[in-house]
This record gives sequence, C-alpha cells and structure tokens, in this order.
Amino acid sequence: MDSNNPSSSTLLPEDIKESLKTLWLGQQEIYCYDMVESTNTEALSLARDDAVEGTIILAEAQSKGRGRQGRSWISPPSTGLYLSVILRPQTLPELRPRLSLVAAVAAASAIDQIGVRPGLKWPNDIMIGHRKVGGILTEACFDKKDPGFVIVGVGINVNTDPTDFSASTRDLATSLSLHTGKVISRLALLKELLYQLENWYELFRKDSFGGILKAWHEYETFLGSSVEVRFGDSTLLGIAEDLDSDGALLVRDRDGHVHRVVAGDIVRCRIRKSQARCAHDEP
Ligand code: BTN
Repeated sequence: MDSNNPSSSTLLPEDIKESLKTLWLGQQEIYCYDMVESTNTEALSLARDDAVEGTIILAEAQSKGRGRQGRSWISPPSTGLYLSVILRPQTLPELRPRLSLVAAVAAASAIDQIGVRPGLKWPNDIMIGHRKVGGILTEACFDKKDPGFVIVGVGINVNTDPTDFSASTRDLATSLSLHTGKVISRLALLKELLYQLENWYELFRKDSFGGILKAWHEYETFLGSSVEVRFGDSTLLGIAEDLDSDGALLVRDRDGHVHRVVAGDIVRCRIRKSQARCAHDEP
C-alpha cells in the first residue's frame, strides 16, 4: 500500500511495518483492532502477560478511550490515531514520569515532520494555537523486584471532523485536517511517530534528559505567561516560570513563592508565541 495515500483506510500491521524506520519499536508485535475499550487497557493486560518491549496496540476506534485526570478521550472510527506502546525501561522508577515529556516531544516532532508545527502545553498536551490536537496518557507498573513496564498511550486527532467532538470540547479541540484543510495520511504520521518515539526514548535510556527538555522548550508556547494550574482539589495562580530538571512545572505566585507542580493541569493560560488564547481560556 502507498504509505502516502491519505485515503488508505484501516491500519494493518504489514502496512505499518513496511519501510518502518525504527530499529525495534513496532518491529515485532503490532496488534490492530477495529474497536477496543481503550488501547491502554489492552496494553496493560498484554504487558502483564510478558509482551516484549516495543509491542504496539492500535485501534480504529475506542469505546472508552481514557485521558489524563480521569477524563475520557473521544475516539471516533478511522479518523484519529489511538495507540499504546509497551516500554520496559530499566531506569529508576522515579525517573519514569519523564517518559510523558519524552512522548510529548516525539508526538510534536512527528506532527512537525508532516508539515504542521504544533505547540506543547505542560505536561504533554499537543496544541495547535489554543486548541488541543493530541494527548498522552502514560501508565506505569512496577514493584521492587520487577522492573515492570510503562504504557505510553497517544491519541492524535488526525482527520477528525468537528461534529465528532463533544459539545463541551468542540471549542477546545482541533484536528490536523481541520487545521490544514487536507486529509492527512494516518499511516505516514504513525510511522513517523514510532520513529520519533524510538529516537527520543533512546535518549531517555542514555540518561540524556537535558536534550529532551531542550526539545520540549522548543515546542512549548506558554512559559512566562500567567497560568491557572489545577492539581487534585487545589488551584494555583501564578506565572509559569519553567520546568525543573525533572520536568516538574515551576509556578511563581503573586507573593513571589515558587511552587513545584509534579502532576496537574494548566486550565487557563495565554499562548505566548502565537498570542492565541489557550484551551479552557474564557473570552
Ligand atoms: C489526555 O490528553 O488526556 C491523554 C489522552 C490519551 C488518549 C490516548 S488514545 C490511545 C490511548 N488509549 C487510551 O485509552 N488513551 C490513550
């Protein structure tokens, strides 16, 4: 099949493997489903059954696609990319949260490679202007003896129609085709994503998080702006100053105190580089 044919429909393992540039990611098992509840849930179960590192689980549609912070991920059939990758990093468990930024940089780089320059909003929202085009859900499992695994789930709205978004997300979401006015090849984007993910993950394995943070900074669009950050039941208002060397967000409040946020969501911000408003920003 022509990998650049945007109209190619169902994603199949043999088409994905054809001229795939990775060394190991996706070179062994690729599971392609028409419909699953969540590719992350499938991946968790396969990983527990000892699936090898680099196994890919992909679905044309998800009935219960999961997002961060307990949200759902709308996954209409054959328009988006919904995939999960099984990774088995041998690094210290406390370094694994860095993998969300690794995946964000990989997804942004892949979208960039197909000709759309995205932005990143901490921790790993993939944005076009003030609208979200993709997101990442990483889930880890390990104990003291077992090095365990990490599931990296990636969702990208590729050819998604605005009518597929829920009423509450319609003003906050976009797709690559909506932005470009063209149908985008899911297959070509998927292959580039796997290639980028393998490359950035290899850097992570070499403990080169500095290089990953540098790339993340090249895509971010909100540092230096005032933000509202939600974590648990708490809300923090301040200026998003930077990320620290672990990828946590540093926010300076109006009293000058710097707060370190490890997990949360930016629910309001100004997109600095494009001067566009951010998702969830109100008029
Ligand atoms: C977010 O931004 O909230 C994260 C969204 C992650 C969605 C992807 S789609 C493939 C994988 N399977 C899931 O159930 N979720 C992730």
